[in-house]
Amino acid sequence: MNLIDTHTHLYVNEFDKDKYEVVNNAIENGISKMVLPGINSSYIPAQIDLAEKFPAHCFLAFGLHPSDVKENFEEEIQVVREHLQSENAVAVGEIGIDLYWDKTYIEQQKTAFEKQILLAKEFNLPIIIHVREAFDEVSEIIDKLNDENLSGIFHSFTGTPEQADIIISFGGFKIGINGIVTFKNAGLDKVVKEIDLKHLVLETDSPYLSPVPKRGKRNESAHLIYIAEKIAEIKDISAEELANITNTNAKKIFGKL
Ligand code: NI
Repeated sequence: MNLIDTHTHLYVNEFDKDKYEVVNNAIENGISKMVLPGINSSYIPAQIDLAEKFPAHCFLAFGLHPSDVKENFEEEIQVVREHLQSENAVAVGEIGIDLYWDKTYIEQQKTAFEKQILLAKEFNLPIIIHVREAFDEVSEIIDKLNDENLSGIFHSFTGTPEQADIIISFGGFKIGINGIVTFKNAGLDKVVKEIDLKHLVLETDSPYLSPVPKRGKRNESAHLIYIAEKIAEIKDISAEELANITNTNAKKIFGKL
């Protein structure tokens, strides 16, 4: 099987000791391509290191994560811009709004999100959206800035069928499903069952949200196989077929993959 992990942070500290092994293990398990979204400027050297070591397998996105939006967000976005210019990025992200942990910087989060959407438009790149407890705020901004060229992924989707419909109605967006779909009490399996496969892409969000049967352990891209198998089971198709459809969807968003 050949799968694309559309969201994996294999460059963070949890992988300091074995990140090359982790990438090689993913490749050996059929995860042929991995998109590494940014968090803040401190991680950029580690991101670039992986892309240089694995140019056919690791692809970069740069962006300021909403939970990292602080007073210095303008400077951080300037660093994002510089790397969009100098590196072969496949997307802007992850960007968005997160009101779960902290609402202190809600206005700055909104401004940073809008500015980074404009960067994506300027560089003609898709966006990777992080949204937590802020679906209405994010939707309002997407609706305001949407046009026929804007595209991207609502990553780590855990919403309702109605929210999935809103995402689909924007036109250029896919829905990222991760290990939460394997969690017994999450109920995401029932929502995924209702969403047409042409709207879905797969992700691990490593090192977080490890799927069953690896739940509670450090997540890594090789675990994408469990997420693919679970969604194939929900949709009553073969994992191979699921892989083909979701890879096509991912390539539609990430034109450079
Ligand atoms: Ni992420």
